[in-house]
Amino acid sequence: MIQIGIDYYPEQWDRSMWEPDIAKMAEMGVDVVRVAEFAWGVLEPEDGRFEFGWLDDAVDLIASHGMRVILGTPTNCAPRWMYVDHPDTVQWDRDGRPTNLGIRGHRCQESATFRDYASRIIREMCKRYAGRPEIAAWQIDNEIEINHCTCPTCTAAFKAWVKARYGTLDAVNAAWGTEVWSGQLTDWGQLTPPLMRQGEGFQPDWYNPAYYLDYERFCASSTAGYVRFQTDIIREYDPDATITTNTCFGGDMMPGFHEECASLDVASYDNYPPVTFSADEPHSNAFGLDFVRGFKRRDFWIMEELGGQMGCWGPISPALAPNMLEGYSLQAVAHGADLLSFFRWRTASTGAEMFCHGLLDHANIPNSRTRALESLVARLKTMPGLDDTEPVSKVAMLYGADQEFSFRDQRQSDGFAYWDQLRLFHDACMNLGVGVDVIEQSSDLAGYEVVIVPSMIVCDPEVVSHLEAAAKAGATVVVTCRSGVKDMNGNCVVGRPLPGLLADMCGCHVLEYDPIGRARRQVRTVHDTTLAVTSWCDLVECDTAGVWASYEDRPYDGIPAITCNAYGKGFVYYVGTVGDRDLYRTLMGSIMRERGMAHLDDLPAGVEVCERSGEGGTYRFFFNDTMDEKGLMVDGHLVTLEPLGMAIESDEGWK
Ligand code: GLA
Ligand code: ZN
Repeated sequence: MIQIGIDYYPEQWDRSMWEPDIAKMAEMGVDVVRVAEFAWGVLEPEDGRFEFGWLDDAVDLIASHGMRVILGTPTNCAPRWMYVDHPDTVQWDRDGRPTNLGIRGHRCQESATFRDYASRIIREMCKRYAGRPEIAAWQIDNEIEINHCTCPTCTAAFKAWVKARYGTLDAVNAAWGTEVWSGQLTDWGQLTPPLMRQGEGFQPDWYNPAYYLDYERFCASSTAGYVRFQTDIIREYDPDATITTNTCFGGDMMPGFHEECASLDVASYDNYPPVTFSADEPHSNAFGLDFVRGFKRRDFWIMEELGGQMGCWGPISPALAPNMLEGYSLQAVAHGADLLSFFRWRTASTGAEMFCHGLLDHANIPNSRTRALESLVARLKTMPGLDDTEPVSKVAMLYGADQEFSFRDQRQSDGFAYWDQLRLFHDACMNLGVGVDVIEQSSDLAGYEVVIVPSMIVCDPEVVSHLEAAAKAGATVVVTCRSGVKDMNGNCVVGRPLPGLLADMCGCHVLEYDPIGRARRQVRTVHDTTLAVTSWCDLVECDTAGVWASYEDRPYDGIPAITCNAYGKGFVYYVGTVGDRDLYRTLMGSIMRERGMAHLDDLPAGVEVCERSGEGGTYRFFFNDTMDEKGLMVDGHLVTLEPLGMAIESDEGWK
């Protein structure tokens, strides 16, 4: 069975509310309750004085109602006394100063003092709860961000990382090309994290990109080390513990997800899909779900599923539209979620998130969201084998943390984002009913018929040889513009036309390029379709490749923009520009037809189809990711999908 969870904060409610809350959860069919991830201040109100009685009671109460607990290590929010008594536990901001206290997540993950305290509270938790049958799993910290702390400890750790990588300062200077702007390092003491002052317009782009790339790599590995520090402690007490952490994307959230998840048992994700739609929403929310499934290349959990109107980070969002709670939940399940925990049981009455709505409003009476949860639970009960299945994909899309670092820190063209490239290709596949695995770029590619490689700007020669081997063996590889630009140090490759190391397999090279920003141009395909492009225009010359699309308007009319090269038993496409939703849909549709791969050619825009199969059966999910009703024919049946509606076809019929 797919498990349903609730995020619950007993420490925020009067004791008299616990029993009715927990009884109601059980009655609604909840399986697990996530607790304690922000409760350090209550668990250790003074240095070394522990108050676990309340948590013992909460765990017992949850268990007495037949549910289990996901226990959060409370390290995201250290108690105020610790920061005040031990200033070396406080994170420093990008401007090289200690952060202002009073919100959350202020800890320096590298600080030895913080780690001592964190280790002590985690050990106290483990002594009480590790290995007990009431505990279903552990959640490490909360939404761990990539750690850009600039405190003296982190500065020393960065220096040690650079020393371990390069050995000598001469090697560092050579790798980073420090002769530019007299940046030579002549003493290890000169090496600091890149600092930025707010309000002075200082951007990462101003820094040496090779140095910045290594700084980002260090931060990602420091954060992965922090996760490992916690998993090691928990496993000392319970080697069989199931451990996860709730990832989320955007801002400074960890692009080194795969490294971070290496020491975890299950990848998990906080799923907050959009509650408002613009008419031309270019991406499907499903991207994040397939992305997180790739962290461990297996089914995953949702630790926070949208449970009500969002608040706190801005004005309160509109109410959840009909079908939204159930539809988005089933969308997550369709893409491989085996557990969905809703954020949160009841909306907080105090604190910054008092308007970040949970399932229940402050009024504490049943509402449309609690009814939607009941309906979801009832529907999932009709599919008991679902968790014994997983999404099946013949298409892989490669993600590289280096690429995200490089594009984020050094903008290439106005409006050009690495993530958008990934999301646009993914969206096209969804709308063709074709599943996609989003996997780390150095993963094994065996079994994939199509491999999409968006903008591999920091070009790893090993990945290039995997791709060549995959294409030679018969796969279709799709490479896009800004691939092959930089070497692994993050410096530009000289004397080799783009796409650099990939040019041979692409059978073409770039003569010149034009970063056209938000301007728009047109290309015409071999199938005589006209499609809009924007952001980037490579002027491509074919060597062995044929033209798939050329620019239509002056001054580039007639010049190839997208090419296709027969390579070994396979094909390699080079996409030298950036398109709209239509371009990717058209290109991927054409690739599917050419390869004779099963796909659905006539799905309405915004309707996505994917499949889970395995011992538990085969399920096909038809989801309407728009606010308009959609109709489609499936094997001779008319399926009508309400806005955000989900229809599921199983071996036993429609669910
Ligand atoms: C994140 C956090 C939660 C809560 C929600 C609300 O996902 O993990 O604690 O703040 O956002 O948006
Ligand atoms: Zn620090």
